Amino acid sequence: EKGGYPTFMEKEIEEQPRAVADTLLGRTDAEGNLSLDELRIPEEKLRAVERVTIVACGTAAYAGTVAKYAIEHWTRIPVEVALAHEFRYSDPIVDERTLVVSISQSGETMDTLMAVKHARDLGALTVSVCNTLGSTIPRESDAALYTHAGPEIAVASTKAFLAQIAACYLLGLYLAQLRGGAYAEDPQAVMKELHDVPDKIAEVLRRMDRVKEIARFMADTRAVLFLGRNVGFPVALEGALKLKELAYIHAEGFAAGELKHGPIALIEPGQPVFIVVPGPDTPHELHRKVVSNIQEIRARGARTIVIAQDGDTDVEPYADEVIRVPHTMPLLQPLLTVVPLQVFALHLSTAKGLDVDQPRNLAKSVTVE
Ligand code: F6R
Repeated sequence: EKGGYPTFMEKEIEEQPRAVADTLLGRTDAEGNLSLDELRIPEEKLRAVERVTIVACGTAAYAGTVAKYAIEHWTRIPVEVALAHEFRYSDPIVDERTLVVSISQSGETMDTLMAVKHARDLGALTVSVCNTLGSTIPRESDAALYTHAGPEIAVASTKAFLAQIAACYLLGLYLAQLRGGAYAEDPQAVMKELHDVPDKIAEVLRRMDRVKEIARFMADTRAVLFLGRNVGFPVALEGALKLKELAYIHAEGFAAGELKHGPIALIEPGQPVFIVVPGPDTPHELHRKVVSNIQEIRARGARTIVIAQDGDTDVEPYADEVIRVPHTMPLLQPLLTVVPLQVFALHLSTAKGLDVDQPRNLAKSVTVE
């Protein structure tokens, strides 16, 4: 059932191009317009949405954070991401004009379910982004937008994460299309670019030999830091979470801009730091700013492992290792940049002789609050 792979997680990582492609499949009409009829929410209601609140836990919440950047940019609707277990007890500001989007692979996470029920009680419109047909959360929601990642068996989420991000992009572009007006980006142009992403994920997967080697050499590492900015920030958080749960190594993700506000004190000679570098075409000179972060930590002796786009030579002087990913538009980059971090955590866990599919103390679906 592992299809020739030693672990479910390896199989599921390899299935990622497919998971994203299947999630995008059949969601555009002949003219290239998005058609999410399955939502079965009247268009007027969606057009009237004034705010979006995403509720989720763990990896799914990081998918939600990626979605926040994309949906806000494409629709200009304010988006908030709430950890589902915090949402209910925070006296949330939610009404009929709020779209509450829950994200859950299993569709059974109790924290997320309770947040959705609370949102419904407050009159919100609820949409469930979910990977499990007929599970509880989509049943308890007004509408469901299914990810088509296929069953995810390994406890650590990989392909479901990519599919969740892809589904949220679809939702954001659909809202942008419905609202009309001047887009920051033409939804059809983004869709076209998105359809090229599965092949690019496959390309990233073909380049993973060096990442596996780095992981093997790092089996004795005590702590690893991850930095990212904009959509690279939740990628950094996800890289850290994967390492904690799979390799039981202390790991932290930071927004790169926070470095000088404290975390740079952690940098000492030999400290491994992964840096997710925004593509050189990212607005607001974020690329240059992250490159200068790499320079700063390198000067303090950090071992810098840089994830950068093909052709980005600016990172080279400051990188101990460069892991390359193909070009895509800035907001879509998480679908590529997270993959090396997943592979790294998996192989570090394997190098330590740990059970990759069943990390200690964790269950695949958390059905208690
Ligand atoms: C991490 C992981 C968890 C889940 C979280 C939500 O690898 O798998 O953080 O993402 O427990 O689970 P779902 O998506 O089933 O609600």
